[in-house]
Amino acid sequence: MTHRILILGGTTEARQLAGKLARREDFSVTLSLAGRTESPVSQGVPVRVGGFGGADGLAAYLREERVNLLIDATHPYAARISANAAEAARQAGVPIFALRRPGWVPVAGDRWALVDGVAEAARALGAAPRRVFLAIGRQEAGAFEAAPQHRYLIRSVDPVEPKLAVPDALYLLARGPFPEADERALLEQHGIDAIVSKNSGGEATYGKITAARALGIDVVMVRRPALPDVPSAETVDALAAMAGHLFDPVAERGV
Ligand SMILES: NC(=O)c1ccc[n+]([C@@H]2O[C@H](COP(=O)([O-])OP(=O)(O)OC[C@H]3O[C@@H](n4cnc5c(N)ncnc54)[C@H](OP(=O)(O)O)[C@@H]3O)[C@@H](O)[C@H]2O)c1
Repeated sequence: MTHRILILGGTTEARQLAGKLARREDFSVTLSLAGRTESPVSQGVPVRVGGFGGADGLAAYLREERVNLLIDATHPYAARISANAAEAARQAGVPIFALRRPGWVPVAGDRWALVDGVAEAARALGAAPRRVFLAIGRQEAGAFEAAPQHRYLIRSVDPVEPKLAVPDALYLLARGPFPEADERALLEQHGIDAIVSKNSGGEATYGKITAARALGIDVVMVRRPALPDVPSAETVDALAAMAGHLFDPVAERGV
């Protein structure tokens, strides 16, 4: 019997999980992307792209495609799709697991100001002009038009369009991982004195946080949004084991 698994992705871990689960002959894995990134990296399994039309649309998809397991492996700040996934799974009577990468925890030497959302982050930078590294992705960069007195270095995978209506912004296109040494060089080169970051967790984007610690730079850290309470694992391997156990509770066969 083939078990049909839909993974909501858009993260490195989602791609890794898809590859791992697809190795099992009795699993048929599809990965879903929102379609935000213009040229996403190859996912290695069949991919569908674009929104479902809310929780109801996703529930209809789960029924139509006879999905046996829904896995939410989206980014921790993609709160709407996670809420929709929990609701759709409930409506369709399909089990759901979430891959929830743990957030970073501040350590001695970190200079974090915690804020709820990007609008608060823009205010937290203060009135005096600063040299700010915006590392929150392109979707919410526009919120910093409310603080045009700062000089911005804005990094994203795809171009920020439209450009921000601020007098001084420099745009950098890059896709992680970003090693600490490179991040440190970037911060020094641009004389950065504040970083705005999401608490993404994981290693790939942690370099800017350790570089900021070494250089004594302030980090305005946007807190994670609330996510639905569904069975979850912190790592790809642990989630793959949960999936294996769901369909094969007696003998797990190498997932
Ligand atoms: N937010 C971030 O910081 C961030 C960072 C890196 C990667 N990402 C990835 O980018 C994607 C979109 O993020 P977001 O912040 O726009 O999410 P969001 O605000 O939670 O979702 C907005 C809408 O986009 C659609 N959508 C989101 N993820 C989808 C997926 N994997 N497959 C199909 N439709 C999806 C859904 O549309 P419908 O309601 O029409 O179904 C959802 O209601 C996610 O896959 C996420 O993992 C986000």
